[in-house]
Amino acid sequence: MKSRINIKTILALLIVCIIALAALVHMRNTKHSASPQYVLRYADNQPDGYPTTQAARFFADQVYKRSGGRIKILIYCDELLGTESDTIKQVQFGGIDFARVSTAQLSEFAPDLTLLALPFLYDDSKHMWNVLNSELGDRMLDAAKDADVIGLSWYDAGVRSFYTTYPIDSLEDLKGMTIRVQISYLMDDFVRCLGANPIAITYSSVYPKLKTGSIQGAENNLPSYEASRHYEVAKYLLLDEHSRIPEMQIMSKNLLEILPAEDISLIQKCAKESSVFEHKLWEKREKHALEYVVNMGVEVNYLSNSERQKFRKACEPIYKKYSKYVTDYEDLMNQIEKLK
Ligand code: GCU
Repeated sequence: MKSRINIKTILALLIVCIIALAALVHMRNTKHSASPQYVLRYADNQPDGYPTTQAARFFADQVYKRSGGRIKILIYCDELLGTESDTIKQVQFGGIDFARVSTAQLSEFAPDLTLLALPFLYDDSKHMWNVLNSELGDRMLDAAKDADVIGLSWYDAGVRSFYTTYPIDSLEDLKGMTIRVQISYLMDDFVRCLGANPIAITYSSVYPKLKTGSIQGAENNLPSYEASRHYEVAKYLLLDEHSRIPEMQIMSKNLLEILPAEDISLIQKCAKESSVFEHKLWEKREKHALEYVVNMGVEVNYLSNSERQKFRKACEPIYKKYSKYVTDYEDLMNQIEKLK
């Protein structure tokens, strides 16, 4: 009799313990998803579903999971937190914690970065990634410090080409045309050297300006041309493939004072992993974008070899000018050449 009571008591206690443990685990999980310790903000001017914003979500998920739910990063797409150059400024003073930005625009604040955005610099995507994944690439991530932000990782942004409201296929055709450029001295100089008239406006202003005819063209990579629907209002694509402008994930240096060192390392690791993720998405999206715009009635033109030579020749003054702004320019150019 005595021992039966004991077994019953022990069984009851065991059940109570299991229920209490399950409740505790549930509370812990609920607490993590309901109230993370840090809620951080990330800006990207591209729409949801674009390779860079998908990779940003991957980055945020990894940080959330691997920090045990303590760090939650909210992703704001579509210029929701401001134009690209505004988001750079906000990351500088800590209003935004992270952003994905074009090197062309970041180089306005960190001139060494103009090196990586020079026209006709890389032979192809592989060459660019050899550079980004080399010591030189690390040095350039570090150069983001000159812009008062921290460079975390590189994202692919393919190769840029011109698209216009009437067909063009030569340097002569570009002369005098009003072409939108990013808010970047480098891109302004580039278009000017080709004899066109550059107008620096934000990404979201391009569509209406093309539509009303106040600009006759712009230049961008294929996924942007497709996602921004610029192909609807500038149906002529000249695949001249003039510039590869890598993009960077940047972080506010304020986080160094807020987060413990292990969390910063975790963020850096997840950012690098998201770069590999984005690169794969990018390749697929680039192919899809070309097929898509062609199906939508875009006329694609190519540069003849002799025209390509003329484009390159016209860019020579840019190399001369920007060699003055980039530290160790000659040496770095030699390194880039060797990384082909
Ligand atoms: C690319 C890039 C954007 C940039 C845009 C532009 O689409 O991904 O970050 O803003 O070019 O031309 O402004």
